[in-house]
Amino acid sequence: MKLCLALAAVAAMTSFAAMAEEVEDPFADTVEARHGLMLQMQTDVAKVGAMAKGETAYDAAIAAKAAANITAVASVLSMDQFPAGSEVDKAADSYALPDIWTNQDDFIVKIAAMNEAAVAFQGVAGTDLETMKAGMTKLGEACGGCHKAYRKPEEE
Ligand code: HEC
Repeated sequence: MKLCLALAAVAAMTSFAAMAEEVEDPFADTVEARHGLMLQMQTDVAKVGAMAKGETAYDAAIAAKAAANITAVASVLSMDQFPAGSEVDKAADSYALPDIWTNQDDFIVKIAAMNEAAVAFQGVAGTDLETMKAGMTKLGEACGGCHKAYRKPEEE
């Protein structure tokens, strides 16, 4: 019985701590999560980018894996990572522009375009260097198109 009470007390303290954290910054985890997704895509784009520039040798298996990763991560993107209020100057570390929520339909179109571009790229990345390079343009446009409209550029 004593143990039960002790456990209950610990559980209560833990959830209280979690609540206290939430009060501090309700969007901290969400912003961190979306940055993680973006950084993973960035890592994979950088891999195929280095091959395209000839900095690293073209490797079909690595290119195909990078493309598969981008498709997988893109499929996670939704408004769930962009709750209203988690914008730049309101949520810590956020560079998300408020237009995401005023133009939400278009933002969702950009997510769909990202998914399409990723799937298309996945279809060509493992073929050969030239085919992969040709496929990269659309992929880059999907990233850049959304950033241009909805991400505040970081100061140098
Ligand atoms: C549908 C819109 C959208 C698409 C598509 C998109 N991004 Fe982003 N990205 C954002 C937004 C919005 C932010 C700012 C998020 C924030 O700061 O909370 C961002 C931030 C980033 C960041 C900075 C992360 C950080 O830690 O600050 C990187 C890197 C990034 N994106 C890479 C990519 C790459 C690479 C692609 C394409 C494969 C891509 N993004 C596609 C909207 C998008």
